[in-house]
Amino acid sequence: MGSDKKVFIKTYGCQMNVYDSERMAANLAAQGYAEVSAPEEADVILLNTCHIREKAAEKVYSELGRLKPLKEVKPDLKFGVAGCVAQAEGQEIINRAPLVDLVVGPQAYQNLPEMLKRADNGAKVIDTEFPVEDKFEKLANHAGMKSAPTAFVTVQEGCDKFCAFCVVPYTRGAEVSRPATQVLTEVKQLVARGVREVTLLGQNVNAYHGEALDGSTWGLARLIRELADYDGLDRIRFTTSHPLDMDDDLIAAHGEVKKLMPYLHLPVQSGSDKILKRMARKHTRDEYFRIIDKMRDARPDLALSGDFIVGFPEESDQDFEDTMDLVRRVEYAQAYSFKYSERPGTPAVDREQVPEDVKGARLMELQDLLTKQQKAFQQGLVGKTLDVLFEKHGREEGQLTGRSEYLLPVHAMAPQEMKGQIASVKIDVNHRNSLGGTLA
Ligand code: 5AD
Ligand code: SF4
Repeated sequence: MGSDKKVFIKTYGCQMNVYDSERMAANLAAQGYAEVSAPEEADVILLNTCHIREKAAEKVYSELGRLKPLKEVKPDLKFGVAGCVAQAEGQEIINRAPLVDLVVGPQAYQNLPEMLKRADNGAKVIDTEFPVEDKFEKLANHAGMKSAPTAFVTVQEGCDKFCAFCVVPYTRGAEVSRPATQVLTEVKQLVARGVREVTLLGQNVNAYHGEALDGSTWGLARLIRELADYDGLDRIRFTTSHPLDMDDDLIAAHGEVKKLMPYLHLPVQSGSDKILKRMARKHTRDEYFRIIDKMRDARPDLALSGDFIVGFPEESDQDFEDTMDLVRRVEYAQAYSFKYSERPGTPAVDREQVPEDVKGARLMELQDLLTKQQKAFQQGLVGKTLDVLFEKHGREEGQLTGRSEYLLPVHAMAPQEMKGQIASVKIDVNHRNSLGGTLA
């Protein structure tokens, strides 16, 4: 304690990285490190990285290059690389960027304070082990955390699905669920700190199978039902799900649990059976449609989100058309789409690649359709009244911004005291990625 050092953390990639960065910051705060929002003020710069696509890793090296001059001004400045690039590349990071002092993989964050001490003594420190101890026991510390009405809680990590394009099973390791009681305790602490909405996180969150106190195993639906009983907790979300694990109990929960928000991120990646098979997704397009139908029967106002990859090896024009057709049928409220990117060590690397210009053209066509669908979804909300959990100041004076049930940001003129509250807002305008409204 009492070292009054400062740490700057920059986070890339998914929400689990956001959660991990918050945990690292809290863990380091207990060692006397204050978090700062400018790299120039820091004694330690930590990049929490993403390895999911090629560009994501390249961004880290260019960021290190940009930050390098700071070390000339402050020779004692330490650089750390955390996250999935750290896990995947290990020592290679220090070879390529010798200014890096410390490389820490996602399963070793509990060791960070001790690693920093060694780095302060001039050592280069690398830890990319997958330890057997429970890292969350040490990391799930919310004391000293900034207060906010929403929070992420990791309930499951890693993946055993081994989709042919994906690095996650290698960077995050095998699928592990946190014990249900540990999750419940963490959420209780968050609610006591004023959190009203939690998003349960996992690379395969709907495969959650956590041990309960009585030794039984709880699925995600059971965990959600239990959390729904907490006074003060008003909203529950979860992400990201795999279609195969959308079981009937979880589908039914969407109709029965009022606090579970009517929004589902359910990536399908492709609408072609041939490509789904080559991706090793383990389901067909018809099976995906059936899940969507059941979800919409359970919760008619459900908004859907998805992930798509175009240009996976051997994707023909017809396969791509099948994806466009699937999107037209499902009608997404929002979606992410990517060009296939070859990831080292994954099964799809050695296959026949689709030319870059074809990938580019397909991505544009798909994004055009998805953007139209998003616009239509948002336009359909104009005139309706939505529940908005106000989180922060809006861009304009006197304005607050929050999220609706459908995760879409909503701005409205509202008194500052309403921060952290849920209010009814009548939607007046549809902006590109948000809505504007008036307190109802
Ligand atoms: N290339 C392109 N997109 C990928 N994704 C995962 N791996 C790759 C890859 N190699 C996308 C998937 C996934 C999202 C998180 O990132 O759509 O759902
Ligand atoms: Fe990126 Fe996946 Fe790692 Fe998240 S888990 S940071 S998406 S590679």
